[in-house]
Amino acid sequence: MATWRSMTNDDIHGVMRVADIVHAELAERDSVPTERVRLFPEGCLVLKEGSQVCGYAISHPIRYRKPPALDSLVGEIASEADQFYIHDICVLPNLRGHGYAGEVVDRLLAVAERYTTTCLVSVYGSSPFWARFGFKSPDDIDQALSEKIRGYGDDAIYLERRNRD
Ligand SMILES: CC(C)(COP(=O)(O)OP(=O)(O)OC[C@H]1O[C@@H](n2cnc3c(N)ncnc32)[C@H](O)[C@@H]1OP(=O)(O)O)[C@@H](O)C(=O)NCCC(=O)NCCS
Repeated sequence: MATWRSMTNDDIHGVMRVADIVHAELAERDSVPTERVRLFPEGCLVLKEGSQVCGYAISHPIRYRKPPALDSLVGEIASEADQFYIHDICVLPNLRGHGYAGEVVDRLLAVAERYTTTCLVSVYGSSPFWARFGFKSPDDIDQALSEKIRGYGDDAIYLERRNRD
């Protein structure tokens, strides 16, 4: 049985091992999870089976509709950040379908309550998974955001949900 725990620097090697398996074509440098866990540890978790990392979740606040480009550092959490951003959730193939991702989405959305909306970039046709949590594709996305999303691949879609009114 695997459990979600807070991510630490010691987990980064395991996070990169999972990312290499799941995101072969959307690779990011290890400096990306290392930076995010330093800037917003509350939003970074690992799925562990014993000492083995089998999945991870990375999230943090951003300025409204300004998600970072793929494989980029953000430098800091902007003091005027007003939206929650789910950067990535991965579960290794052998552990899928047991509710692990759903469990961590619920945990991240509890953190996201402080912000009016949460957004993410859906890849690999995963938008039906996100729709379960109320994520939808808005129809008023500007060109700068569209171009950034394209950097995540041809099938990437920007999704957003309201956390509260
Ligand atoms: C998406 C992902 C995190 C789901 O992990 P998981 O632990 O299997 O998810 P859960 O067990 O909580 O939920 C499984 C349910 O979601 C559905 N689901 C999972 N991935 C899906 C996808 N890509 N598209 C549509 N539905 C999906 C499953 O069919 C299943 O539905 P069911 O409950 O009706 O059988 C996992 O498949 C993964 O790591 N995928 C590759 C990385 C990825 O796409 N991450 C999201 C990028 S935005």
